[in-house]
Amino acid sequence: MEIQVACGFGMETATKLELKRLGYDAPCIDGRFELKGDSRDIVSLNLHLRTADRVLITLKKFTATTFDELFDGVSEIDWANYLPRNGFIAVNAKSIKSTLFALSSIQSITKKAIVNVMLKTYPSLPEDGDRFCVEVNVLRDEVTISLDTSGAGLHKRGYRKLVWEAPIKETLASGIIELSGWRGDRAVIDPFTGSGTFPIECCMRALSIPSGYFREFAFEKYPFIDSNILKEEKQIAKDGIEWDKKVRISGFDIKGKAIGIAYQSAKEFGLEKYIHFETQDMRNISSRYEGGMIFANPPYGERLGTKEEIEVLYRDFGRVFRSLKDWGANVITSCPQFERLFARSADRERKVYNAKLLCRIYTYFPQKK
Ligand SMILES: C[S@@+](CC[C@H](N)C(=O)[O-])C[C@H]1O[C@@H](n2cnc3c(N)ncnc32)[C@H](O)[C@@H]1O
Repeated sequence: MEIQVACGFGMETATKLELKRLGYDAPCIDGRFELKGDSRDIVSLNLHLRTADRVLITLKKFTATTFDELFDGVSEIDWANYLPRNGFIAVNAKSIKSTLFALSSIQSITKKAIVNVMLKTYPSLPEDGDRFCVEVNVLRDEVTISLDTSGAGLHKRGYRKLVWEAPIKETLASGIIELSGWRGDRAVIDPFTGSGTFPIECCMRALSIPSGYFREFAFEKYPFIDSNILKEEKQIAKDGIEWDKKVRISGFDIKGKAIGIAYQSAKEFGLEKYIHFETQDMRNISSRYEGGMIFANPPYGERLGTKEEIEVLYRDFGRVFRSLKDWGANVITSCPQFERLFARSADRERKVYNAKLLCRIYTYFPQKK
């Protein structure tokens, strides 16, 4: 099968690193990695990828500038091989720089073609069963028809039942951790932990808990993917989880309610005993450890905090950082003045979108004092 791994803008390097570790060397075009594999690859990618958004199967690629060509192209796929008779077929369409651009028409023509093909095998389609999502991507008149295998986006690990203000997406937090080079050994502090995303993602990595270990996937409903494969892959993963590992991960937030939510989220996966969560103003943070790593998603002065508050906060944050011996830091913010206020130029800078906001990840390597 041809498989696509989709990731967010700015996450390409992180996902590439992860794919390499999992044994895939795949090119990335427009935020999509394309690779060849079988059912086991689909299961494994969904289960393990921490930074990707979703995993899809490419069913067909063709050129279409008219709705007739779209209908004919979709009709060439043997849909009854992929979808069960009672499946509810949802079609998502995207179109960029193409003659066919009316998304609702692209969706309805595609669905019509799928139903037409399915009715050659089945007498009727009740569509009262599980939901199956077909993606139609039209880019410069080139159509790619794909089948989603993830279901809910892969950022949904399952630990987040409640959230505090402005939570960072789990896949983005994990991408920042991936790019930092942190591998579970060094101490971690998240000074603005909110819902606790960075500490929980760090903890899952450190203990080798797969990101999808506690959730369900759309592929579990597909008739062409053997359900034993997921059981086998989960068993292998289970044997690899290091529940006895010693970690030094802390999350602080000035708001007690945020800390309560972060603790509850960690508890969902039994991780509350590994992470030190504390209600604390970031300005009071210190550490007896040397050579640790900060992961921070502070208020940006857009949705949270005013510009004036952010100026003081970032200055004080810089002072706290410099007081920690031999620590590194990775900070995501949309504030263009961050480096000036933090009073140190970043060693590395990357553009990334956090929700719809263009941000930068500022990376500071440890400075020996
Ligand atoms: C953008 S949110 C962090 C979201 C978090 N990364 C998550 O995934 O939920 C910023 C957080 O910083 C906290 N905060 C603001 N000022 C603070 C301070 N002086 N010390 C500690 N936390 C602070 C806010 O309460 C808020 O939870």
